[in-house]
Amino acid sequence: MTYKIFNNKYIKDFITLDNKNTPCYIYDTSLLKDTFHAAYKALNENFNNAHIHYAIKANTHPKIIELAKEYSMGIDCVSGGEILQALDNKIPPSNIVFAGVGKTNQEIDIALEKDIFSFNCESIQEIEVINERARNKNKIASICIRINPNIDAKTHHYISTGQFDDKFGIAFSTTSEFLQSQLGEFKNIKFIGLHYHVGSQILDRTVFESLTNTVNKHFETLLNIGIKIEHINFGGGLGIDYTNPSQNPIVDFDNYFETFSKGFKFKNSVQIHFELGRSLVAQSGIIVSNVLFNKTTHLTNFLIIDAGMTELIRPALYQAKHHIESLSINKNIKKYHVVGPICESSDILAKNIELPETNRNDLIVIYSTGAYAKVLSSQYNLRPSASEYFI
Ligand code: LLP
Repeated sequence: MTYKIFNNKYIKDFITLDNKNTPCYIYDTSLLKDTFHAAYKALNENFNNAHIHYAIKANTHPKIIELAKEYSMGIDCVSGGEILQALDNKIPPSNIVFAGVGKTNQEIDIALEKDIFSFNCESIQEIEVINERARNKNKIASICIRINPNIDAKTHHYISTGQFDDKFGIAFSTTSEFLQSQLGEFKNIKFIGLHYHVGSQILDRTVFESLTNTVNKHFETLLNIGIKIEHINFGGGLGIDYTNPSQNPIVDFDNYFETFSKGFKFKNSVQIHFELGRSLVAQSGIIVSNVLFNKTTHLTNFLIIDAGMTELIRPALYQAKHHIESLSINKNIKKYHVVGPICESSDILAKNIELPETNRNDLIVIYSTGAYAKVLSSQYNLRPSASEYFI
């Protein structure tokens, strides 16, 4: 099946006949549904007792939260704002997990008052503060401890989270000591399990295998000292194909879940959780942008378009490469730097890519922008917020 976002004629008509303003984000509802469905199916084929918490940070649009709810998913949040957004969209509090290294008092209070499923705690001090605030409210807070397993996620260093010089999580040795000697003092804390998340855009299956092996060891160690674990949360991180989005619109969820279901020895003794973000939504979104100017310097042909780092910061921030097409029907091929209008030299969306000869008022499509695009957008240079459409 060809999804509408990959049909250039459809997209061109959608923008020009409907007089849509560019730049804009377009999401393909069928692809979104098929992706959520594929994830749900693969999860349940591999486990009897596992849950996905959609990592809302990837895209907070209510329609996507709605879809997560349709597939019985919970929500993974990293701020009070995200918790409130999930609740506004009728996600039951019992399906909400809350991670983040720097939870404020207000955020902790929101989570306590709403009785969310679990805090994923990232420092011992945080557990002390949650205990104190829960005591003041006469509540018991359920917590998982986020372990930093010191695993190289083999991804861009800005989105790698599971090594000792990353700010995330607590070392296992510290956790084990804490559970044995200190946990008992915290009367308003209920320890329910371990949480892991080693990074994002992970394409190498061996990373998930290493994670599973490490979790096996941690689980066994705690079991041997009599500490009961009810929940294991493997986090998210499954990467997508940014090079060929139309050939690989839906990632191989089966392969991903199978890694854990084959490798995790205790899969039938605990509840298992995943926090997928990008893999559920990235391929379903595109940015459509209009070409403002062509400029040829001594060295380079620049295509200056009306979308920039304010709509998609990933190339500037992580040197990410998104597939880009021109909707020009010119037969000549030229090499271009595709750049945005922002007053920053890093506002480059792609360098030296071949496109059909493209001119002012031709349209440019940037693919795989359903995740970490709109949510990371800004109004820098006082630019208006780009609209989002679902087709
Ligand atoms: N769980 C936790 C605790 C996380 O920190 C994240 C992502 C996820 C789950 C979801 O990971 P995913 O399945 O989406 O890989 N802005 C960056 C990505 C940052 C990811 C942050 N944490 C980018 O555009 O590549």
